[in-house]
Amino acid sequence: MSLPEHIVLVPSAAFGDGRHPTTRMCLQAVRSFSPAVPFRMLDVGSGTGVLAILGAKLGASVAVGVEIDVEANRAATTNAVRNAVSDRATFGTAWPDGPFDLVVANILRDPLLHLRGQMVARLARGGTLVLSGLTSTDVAFLVAAYAPLLGDARPDIFASEEWRTLVWRRATVPSA
Ligand SMILES: C[S@@+](CC[C@H](N)C(=O)[O-])C[C@H]1O[C@@H](n2cnc3c(N)ncnc32)[C@H](O)[C@@H]1O
Repeated sequence: MSLPEHIVLVPSAAFGDGRHPTTRMCLQAVRSFSPAVPFRMLDVGSGTGVLAILGAKLGASVAVGVEIDVEANRAATTNAVRNAVSDRATFGTAWPDGPFDLVVANILRDPLLHLRGQMVARLARGGTLVLSGLTSTDVAFLVAAYAPLLGDARPDIFASEEWRTLVWRRATVPSA
């Protein structure tokens, strides 16, 4: 299967063939918010690795996928090789050290809630946090959980069908 940016994915049971609205919103966010200079990206719940692979193609010097499903990690690693980014895009179950300029997580409300400390701790000053896999009724709950960790900043909210994606662009100066 071919995706935009000529990403090729091997057939697998892993989530992330690029067709789901949440994946599509995240692909667009990676395109829109990837820094122009080499950057570090964290993809939490990486599935097929499609988001990290796009980040690597767009200039990430490091794109790390964290995924609890080891079969998905095998598929993502193969996908990184097929897309000639295996030197930059890597996948596993362990959380890497930060900071990361772009942190993307397309999971669901409860894991996003549970993992908020780990994700925000790895977000660089001036970095961008993208959360997806949410429905409209999840938004207020997630914003209330994340905003205190992000200087009470409000996210931009993007919609596709019933799905919502939240994007925080972290200030370069830490809040008082
Ligand atoms: C909706 S898929 C997203 C796949 C891909 N990133 C995309 O955007 O299409 C969510 C993935 O998160 C993984 N996942 C769920 N809970 C997780 C956790 N606590 N830590 C890491 N990965 C998790 C699932 O195994 C699944 O592959």
